[in-house]
Amino acid sequence: MTGIFITFEGPDGAGKSTQVARLSERLRGVGIRCITTREPGGTAISDRIRSILLDPSHREMAPRTEALLYAASRAQLVSQLIRPSLEGGAVVICDRYVDASLAYQGALGLDREALRALNRWATGGLTPDRTYLLDVPAALGLNRVKAARRAAFGGVDRIEERDVGYHEAVRRWFLDQARRSRRYLLIDGTRSVDEVAEEIWQDVRVVLNL
Ligand code: TYD
Repeated sequence: MTGIFITFEGPDGAGKSTQVARLSERLRGVGIRCITTREPGGTAISDRIRSILLDPSHREMAPRTEALLYAASRAQLVSQLIRPSLEGGAVVICDRYVDASLAYQGALGLDREALRALNRWATGGLTPDRTYLLDVPAALGLNRVKAARRAAFGGVDRIEERDVGYHEAVRRWFLDQARRSRRYLLIDGTRSVDEVAEEIWQDVRVVLNL
């Protein structure tokens, strides 16, 4: 595998998608071939799975169904887009990946070792080279999401709708991971978009040897 695989994680409303866009623009600006995608989604099949997962009317969805659908969406994305792009030497930037399942589905009480095994199988063991954890307090993130949805006359999705205690458990798992793993860079997502983008850029320059 010759490319570099970068993922963004963090609680809802941490600002990942803005930073993914900023980083990809900057990389393209210096002539680096880069592909951006997001989870759940990123392929036609994965986008259909996304709409099943996030539909607020699917109240009866069992936690294991949820975990399997995220893994199914991911398996398709890895096989159709991420792996071929890495093999072609591109930088691939993905908004969420396996860690999101360990955090979000783990916080439902599912066994994290089982989730790891499921996702290892779904992805063929593909692991990111670098993960940026944009951290914000769960309540702040949820307020940002709700304000953005109101502005767009939309509602929150099935996962965002869960209470702040759940989202705070998700955040704690991410923070714990960032402390344990050198693959992570912990970033304070409460700062301005420009400050966060600059911190990520300085790190990416080291990772990519720019
Ligand atoms: P998110 O990146 O927040 O999308 P958007 O910003 O477009 O709303 O992802 C959608 C939701 O899915 C989010 O609440 C987190 C959740 N999620 C999981 O629970 N498990 C996963 O494995 C992934 C990838 C996402």
